[in-house]
Parts: sequence; structure tokens; C-alpha cells
Amino acid sequence: MNAKIIKPPAEELYKKELLALEKHDKGPKPLNWRLSPKAVRTFILGSDEPLEIEGEEIYIKKKFYGDDALIERCIVTLAGNRGLMLVGEPGTAKTMLSELLTAAICGISTNTIQGTAGTTEDMIKYSWNYAMLLAKGPSKEALVPSPLYTGMENGIITRLEEITRCPSEVQDSLISMLSDKVLNIPELGKDGVVFASPGFNVIATANIRDKGVNEMSSALKRRFNFETVFPIKDLSLEVEIIENESRKLLKQADIDMEIDRDAVKILASTFHELREGITVEGHRLDKPEAVMSTAEAVSVYFQSAMSAYYYDGGDISMDRVVQNILGAVIKESREDLNKLKNYFTIVAKQRSTKEGGLWTNYYSAKKWIK
Ligand SMILES: Nc1ncnc2c1ncn2[C@@H]1O[C@H](COP(=O)(O)OP(=O)(O)O)[C@@H](O)[C@H]1O
Ligand SMILES: [Mg+2]
Repeated sequence: MNAKIIKPPAEELYKKELLALEKHDKGPKPLNWRLSPKAVRTFILGSDEPLEIEGEEIYIKKKFYGDDALIERCIVTLAGNRGLMLVGEPGTAKTMLSELLTAAICGISTNTIQGTAGTTEDMIKYSWNYAMLLAKGPSKEALVPSPLYTGMENGIITRLEEITRCPSEVQDSLISMLSDKVLNIPELGKDGVVFASPGFNVIATANIRDKGVNEMSSALKRRFNFETVFPIKDLSLEVEIIENESRKLLKQADIDMEIDRDAVKILASTFHELREGITVEGHRLDKPEAVMSTAEAVSVYFQSAMSAYYYDGGDISMDRVVQNILGAVIKESREDLNKLKNYFTIVAKQRSTKEGGLWTNYYSAKKWIK
């Protein structure tokens, strides 16, 4: 695969890990799975023991931090006959999990439908190549399969991103495929039936906080096992994720730069404490309406690091960090601005006198919040 692509799919990014796991996998596998449920779990949660492959020691990195039992439940759901629905606030790694699960289970994470207000039933089922349709009439060759069709035919998982953004009647067209595991194509007459092969399943994701989402029918809900993915509870874990993810992004952007751990800690504290509405010292804070997710914190760090790299001679400054936090926080309402300001006058001020260091720079960068 081309090394110069912006975001390689998970199966490409972790190719060696997957090969090593496959080679050493002795656990029982559901039909058509590439790895056993045990190995899928190891792929996502990592292991301390390296696996040898062609004389090389491969370490399986931990990719998801948080609730380990959730991962097991997700994997077991996928081996059964109900779909998996991941719900939660934006930026809680639902998409990441769905990519990792599909890469490990069937080796393809790109068999995906992105739900939008413009998603139609054709995009869920199948459409036609019209030139071919006119020339040959309805036939298998003229049919353009959807990712769901492909999943059923090949016995692999189909990902449905942001399912609740699809109009309700389009969502409901999934019901028969999920319960009967069959897709009818009336245009093809008696040949027009696709039965799902073993290994087929669906992972859907839905953000609970997005505006403009459509209610999901109870009939469709019953076809899924729901799992809620929560924001990270532990501040030090969040620091670690922001650090690792920022390092990954900088490397992808071809920027050779060390991560400033103290800056990451301040950023993580700000996001964590505002999201939870309470500081580590126990002060109550007003929670902003904006999503203070780990993913947003990563993008603030990355932006600030890029500015430092291109404009400031390489050192990340708290001025840049605060400017970028503004961009992340002031998306929903102007009131969030005051909540952020409050954080500085209460928390940052106190820590600048108590701890000094970068907190002092951070506190003086409050001038950008106008
Ligand atoms: N619990 C977590 N473990 C590992 N990474 C996380 C976690 N929560 C958030 N992240 C980071 O934030 C990003 C969240 O992105 P994404 O999967 O797009 O979220 P969602 O689909 O829930 O909106 C991930 O790619 C990862 O870098
Ligand atoms: Mg997502």
C-alpha cells in the first residue's frame, strides 16, 4: 500500500501486530473470523509479552484505555446474531473501536457506510450502474453493492457510522437484514436473494450529544446490543493518550518534535476538569456545553505544536495552547467563554501561585480569552 496516505486503515497500520497474533493464535474462532475472540481482545488491550514473528519480537500495543470488560462484551456480541451499537459522547473512541474490531475480526475496517441526513435506502442496500442497466437490463453485473451487501456476501462486518444521522425510514430498512440475514433484490426475480455468510455482522456508532439526530425505532433497537463508551475517568490515562496520539499525528505530519509533557498535563487537566465539572481539589465548575473530549484535546495539542514548529522556532507556548482551546470550546455558545474564563481565574491562578512553572505562563495567557 502507498506509504504516503494521510490515514492508513487499522489493518494496514497494525499489520505486523495482526500477523503475529494470527500466527500465535490457538483459541477457538467463530466461523470466518481471522482471529479468536481472545486474540482480538489482546489486539485492542495490548499485552506485555512480545510475540515472535520471523525472528522479530512484536509488542501488541494497548490501543483502548478504559473499561476492559466492555471490549470483551463487544467481541462476544459480534460473534452472536445481534449487531453491536456503540453509543456515547463524541470523541470517546467509538469509531476507533469499531475500526480496531473490524480490522482484527475480518481484516477490513473500510467496509463502511457513513450516516448523514442525505443517506438513502440505496446506499444501505444496493444501487445500479445505469449504463449497464440500460444495456443489459437488471442483472448482477449492473448491480452496485453497498457495504452492507458486501458484508453479507463475504461474511465480514459492515460498519455504520453515525447511524442516528440517517433518516428514520432509512434506518429501518436495516431491520430485515439484521433479523433474517437476507437481502432481497426484487428486480432480479428469483435470483434476487442474498443470504448472509457466517462472519457477517454490523457495528453501528451513534453520538448521544449531536444535534439533528433521528430517533431510532424500537424494532431496530432490538436488533442491537447497546454498549455505552464513557469518557476517560482517570486523568493520568488521559495525559498518556493525548501524548501518544499527538506523537502519532506529528509523525504523520512529518514533524520531528518532542512532546512537552507539562503542556500536555495542563491541557489534559483543563479538559478533564471542565468535562467533569469538578477540579482535583474538589472545586465545582460550570460544565461547558461544548464537548471537552480527549479527541478535542489531542487536536488542540497538535494545532499548537504545529504553530510552534512552523512559526515559533519549535517550543510550544501556552499562548498558542490557549488560542487553540478557544477554537475548540467556543463552538456551541458564548456562555462557554465565561466558563472557560472562570477556569482560569479560579484554577489556573491558584496553580500558578502554588505550582508555578508552566501554570504561570498558562495563567498569563488568559489575556487571549476576551
Ligand atoms: N478510551 C480511549 N482510549 C484510547 N484513545 C481514546 C480514548 N478516548 C478517546 N481516545 C482518542 O480520541 C479519539 C476519538 O476519536 P473517535 O474514535 O473518532 O471518537 P468518536 O467516534 O467516539 O467520536 C481516538 O482516535 C483516540 O485517539
Ligand atoms: Mg465517531
